[in-house]
Amino acid sequence: MERPFSVTPDIDVLPSYADIPGFGILPVNAFLLRAREPLLVDTGLIADSPAFMDSLRSLIDPRELRWLWLTHPDQDHVGSLTPLLQEAPQLRVITTFIGVGILSLFNPLQPERAYLLNPGQSLDLGDRTLTAVRPPSFDGPATTGFFDSRSNAFFSSDCFGALMQAPAQDARDIPEADLSAGQTLWATVDAPWLHKVDSRRFETELLEIHRRAPELVLSAHLPPARGMTEGLLRTLAMAPSAPAFVGPDQEALQQLLSQITGPTGGPPPTA
Ligand SMILES: [Fe+2]
Ligand SMILES: [Fe+2]
Repeated sequence: MERPFSVTPDIDVLPSYADIPGFGILPVNAFLLRAREPLLVDTGLIADSPAFMDSLRSLIDPRELRWLWLTHPDQDHVGSLTPLLQEAPQLRVITTFIGVGILSLFNPLQPERAYLLNPGQSLDLGDRTLTAVRPPSFDGPATTGFFDSRSNAFFSSDCFGALMQAPAQDARDIPEADLSAGQTLWATVDAPWLHKVDSRRFETELLEIHRRAPELVLSAHLPPARGMTEGLLRTLAMAPSAPAFVGPDQEALQQLLSQITGPTGGPPPTA
């Protein structure tokens, strides 16, 4: 878990990174939206939970939180859901019917603490309106991101994520070629179905984001990206024709293990 930082006066990032051996690091971000009715977006990694809650408490008294926007109930988004529900008694979890169903398999949510919002529907937070959307790429059927009318930010869930080689607090700090390669790799890992879509139909999905022209893209898996929406859309448009991701197989795993333990299973040779 890294230290939280501000992107705008009303948006903070609670950042972490997951190591992906052989491929780099993947940012795992949650966000605090300091709306009139304060809202948290996702709750980080399970392994980070105590540190995540400390970071959150350093930003806001969790009892002030009114909402959690759970973009989808994947393990890298629900890490502190249980302690958060305990510490924020008035907080309600924005998700979908499918999200509640998936949560019921491992962390059931009391119905009165859920708030069901489908793509296309909006929520008024007093000083802004959040409009739910299904991002162009996603890895689970419960996924919703949203547009914030006040900050002109698009909270995109897993969409626009990128594997990276070093931490960064701003997507502009990633060399352009690295960002493009890392974004393409992530898209093919996270949404392997992209290879099955009609690229023209997919482009109409991307056009919808272009039409809304968010100034700020806030992905769970990318440092904040300001003024970069068009470039991110261009890269994602090419993902359906990029090589499909194939993970290391058992032979590669054996090679890796033999480097660690030596060919006989003992410690590696020290030369
Ligand atoms: Fe996911
Ligand atoms: Fe994710």
